[in-house]
Amino acid sequence: MNKERILVTSALPYANGPIHLGHLSGAYLPADIYVRYHRLKGNDIIYICGSDEHGVPITITADKEGVSPKVIIDRFHEMNKEAFEKFGMSFDIYSRTSLPLHHETAQKFFKSFYEQGLLTEKKTWQFYDPKAKKFLPDRYVEGTCPKCGYEEARGDECENCGAIYEPTELINPKSKITGETPELKETSHWYFSLGKFQKRLENYINEMAEKYGWKENVLQYCRSWFKEGLRDRAVTRDLDWGVKVPLKNAEGKVLYVWFEAVLGYISATQKLSLEKGEPELWRKYWQDEKTKYIAFIGKDNIVFHTIIFPAMLMAWNDANDDKFILPQNVPANEFLNFEGKKFSKSRGWGIDVIDFLEKFPPDPLRYTLGSNLPETKDTDFYLKEFQAKNNNELADILGNFVNRTFTFVQKHFDGKVPLMGTPAKIDKEMLQTISEFPGKVGRLIDSYKIRDAVNEMMNLARAGNKYFNDSAPWVTIKENKELAGTTLNICLQTIYTLAEIFEPVIPFTSKKIFKMLNANTVAWDEAGKPQLAENHPLDKGEILFTKIDDKVIDKMFEELGHTETTNEIDYEEFSKMELRTAKVISAEKIKKSEKLLRLRLDLGNEKRQVVAGVAKTYSPEDLIGKQIVIVANLKPAKLFGFESKGMILAAETKDGKFEVLELSENVPLGTRVK
Ligand code: MF3
Ligand code: ZN
Repeated sequence: MNKERILVTSALPYANGPIHLGHLSGAYLPADIYVRYHRLKGNDIIYICGSDEHGVPITITADKEGVSPKVIIDRFHEMNKEAFEKFGMSFDIYSRTSLPLHHETAQKFFKSFYEQGLLTEKKTWQFYDPKAKKFLPDRYVEGTCPKCGYEEARGDECENCGAIYEPTELINPKSKITGETPELKETSHWYFSLGKFQKRLENYINEMAEKYGWKENVLQYCRSWFKEGLRDRAVTRDLDWGVKVPLKNAEGKVLYVWFEAVLGYISATQKLSLEKGEPELWRKYWQDEKTKYIAFIGKDNIVFHTIIFPAMLMAWNDANDDKFILPQNVPANEFLNFEGKKFSKSRGWGIDVIDFLEKFPPDPLRYTLGSNLPETKDTDFYLKEFQAKNNNELADILGNFVNRTFTFVQKHFDGKVPLMGTPAKIDKEMLQTISEFPGKVGRLIDSYKIRDAVNEMMNLARAGNKYFNDSAPWVTIKENKELAGTTLNICLQTIYTLAEIFEPVIPFTSKKIFKMLNANTVAWDEAGKPQLAENHPLDKGEILFTKIDDKVIDKMFEELGHTETTNEIDYEEFSKMELRTAKVISAEKIKKSEKLLRLRLDLGNEKRQVVAGVAKTYSPEDLIGKQIVIVANLKPAKLFGFESKGMILAAETKDGKFEVLELSENVPLGTRVK
C-alpha cells in the first residue's frame, strides 16, 4: 500500500490565558482525531503545535500584573501544554514562538522579502500613550465616534455605526491602558505587498478547492477578501515584545505577531528535528511536494492561513531554492458556544479545559465534543448533553456491550475467546457489518466529516448490542454451547474493531479495551477482519465509564457565573417596564391546571385579575394578604379562559420552585418600583 506523508498543524494558541472547551472543538480535537487515524493507517504523519507568545495582549496582561511578559507566557505555555496532554492531544511537539530558533526563522523570511523589494516603508501617524510609553494599537484606543457620537468607539472604526475613519478624527481619544489622552506620534512601518499575490492566491485556492474539496465556509471567506481586493499590509509594530525587525533603523520595532506566528509551524518542526537529532528532517515535511499539508484552525484564523501564510510561502519560494509546500486544505471550524452563549472569559462564562478535567476523565469530553463539532455551523456545549452522552451512549451502549460480553465469556468460557462454529446468517451479517466500519469511518475522517465519523463509530456498538440481543446467548448456552460460543466470538471481534476505530476519539478507553482483550492495535484497514484467535486468553474485564449523577451537573451550574447576563438593555428599555406594588386580595386554583393560580390584586386605585404560574409552590392561602410586585403594563393575555392583566415577580429556583417577591406593608399600593 502507498504510504502518505502528511504534515498537520493546529493554530498556535496565545499564551495569554487558559484554553477552554471552545478552542478544543475548533482546531484541536478534530486535528487530533485526524492524526491518530492516519497513524493507525500507517501513514508518515507529524502533528505540530505550540504557543503563540507575542502580541500586544500579552504585554498588557503583563503590565496589569506588574510582571514581565516572560512570566505570563511561561505560565500559560506550561498550563496549556498540560491541559492538552491531559486531554490526550498527541502533538509530536508543542513548541513556542519565544524560542531563538523561531526568531531566526521569522527574520530569515522577513529579510528575503526585504531583499526582493516586497516590503515598503511608509510613514504614518499613530496614537502613543506617553504614560505607558507605548504606541497604541487601534483596539487600545477608545473615544467618541466622529459620525454618530457613540462614546466607546475604537481607534479606527465605530462598532455602533460601522464608520471607518483615520485615528486623527476620533473625538476625545483615551488610552485603554492608562486612561490618558494619547498623543499622535509619527512612526514608520514596513508594508508587505500582498496585492501582488492576489492572482496567484486565487488560482491556488481554486485549484486546491476543486481537487481536495475545501469547505464552503472557508471558500466564502476567501472570496469576499478577493472581491474587496488584497491590500498591502503593515507587518511591523512599535513594541518591544516580539521578533525584532532585522534591519538598521528599526529600533523598538517588532514583526506583527501574525506575520511571524504562522512561521511558528515551521520553526516548531525545525525544533522537533533538532530534538530528534536529525536537523534537516523538517524539510521532508515542508519542502517535499509529495507531502500533504493540512492546517486545522477556527474560523477567526481563516485569512491568515488561506491568504497571508500562503502568500508568504510563495514569496519565499520566488527567491529561494528550498521551496515550501502550501496547505492542501484548511478545514476551519465554526465556533462552539457554551449553554447557548458565547464563551467569555471576562463574564466568567464557560469552562477551562484544566478545570473540566479535574472533574471528569478526558474521553467523555472528547466524545461529546467530537460528536458535535462545529464543522458547518456554530454548535453548543450543554452540560446536560455531556451527561447524556456519557451515561446513555458511552456507558449504556459501548460500555454495556463490552461489559456484558466480557462477563459472559468469563462465566461460560473461562475467559478465553470461544471457538467460532459454523456461522449462521445472523453471524455472517454481523461479520460483514464489522468489516465495513473501518473503511466507512476512515472515509468520513478523510473528508473532514469528523463529527459524522464519531457518530458512526457508536453505530457499531449499537449493532453489537442488537446482535447480542437477537442471538440471545443466555438462551443458547443452555442448549447449544457451540452456538453461544460463535456469538461471543463475534462479539469479541466486534469489541476489537470498536477499540481500534474508537482510538482516535477516546484513546484512553481504547487502550483499556485493548488491555482487556490482551491485544494490540493493527493497521486500520485490517481492523474489520476478525483479529482474535480462538482460545486467546483475555485479561480481566473492567468498567469503562462511570455514570454522572444529576447532582454533579447541578453543582457545576451553581459554580458557573449564574448571575451572568448577556442581553444588556439600556435604561430607556428598562424604564418602559411599569413595575408596581399590589396586594393579593383573593386567590384560587384553576381547575385543570397544576401550575396556575387566579389572583385578584389591589393596586390602590385599581383592582385587577392576574393569572400566575406559582401553584406548585404556593397554595392560595399562602398568597392572600401578601404585598407583591407586578409588571403592570404587560399586554393582557388569556390563560385557561381567564384574563390576566400583568405578571407577578418571582424568583425561579433550579428545581422549578418560585419565591414571590414581597414588600413590607409600609409601601402604598400601586407605587412604582424602579
Ligand atoms: N494565536 C492565534 C489565536 O489564538 C492563532 C495563531 S495561529 C498561527 O487565534 F498560525 F498564527 F500561529
Ligand atoms: Zn459611530
